[in-house]
Amino acid sequence: MTLDAGRFRRALGCFATGVAVITAEFDGAAHAMTANAISSLSLDPPLILFCPSKKARLSAGLNLIKEFSVNFLRNEQEALANYFAGAWRKPIAPTFRFVPGHCGPRLEGSLVTLECAMHEVIEGGDHWIVIGRVVHLHDGVEPHYPLVFFKGQYRDIDMRQGVPAPDLAAVEDEPPHIFYHN
Ligand SMILES: Cc1cc2nc3c(=O)[nH]c(=O)nc-3n(C[C@H](O)[C@H](O)[C@H](O)COP(=O)(O)O)c2cc1C
Repeated sequence: MTLDAGRFRRALGCFATGVAVITAEFDGAAHAMTANAISSLSLDPPLILFCPSKKARLSAGLNLIKEFSVNFLRNEQEALANYFAGAWRKPIAPTFRFVPGHCGPRLEGSLVTLECAMHEVIEGGDHWIVIGRVVHLHDGVEPHYPLVFFKGQYRDIDMRQGVPAPDLAAVEDEPPHIFYHN
């Protein structure tokens, strides 16, 4: 069965994510790109990954990049998400500033920035899987209101509706409960 590309994109759009701007320096300039294909990967060592399209300009510099930053966006930063996705159509660019971080430039005013040393680049179809080892964390200003992306739209989350998820760090030593399903 060949997968319908539109349905595939719509299905993926049902997985709500945050939005980040990846920043890195190569060829003597700061480069930035909006991404939501981002995941935590490993706690020990601390690894994360992001997936740039092979066509993205950032991908052309992957063999030169030794470090990069993943800047999670705050809910009022959707203009920056559009700008760094190359989708800004207004004459005046939104206000932003790159500041020197521990791993090259970081986007000032982000929710949180993960500063990473390049760990590995793996091929993943028409994208690259870029794995970074997090070497420094930069905490943004509280309260942490994230920019959320769901079904092709930027969203706000209702911070009043929280229900605690299990604290897996606290139950680590308990035997696992295995549910079998026939
Ligand atoms: C919310 C959002 C999430 C995106 N996530 C990704 C992503 O994870 N990977 C990717 O390659 N492009 C992603 N894009 C598209 C890139 O930001 C865009 O194609 C990129 O800026 C192109 O870079 P270039 O103009 O430097 O080639 C996303 C765009 C938006 C608006």
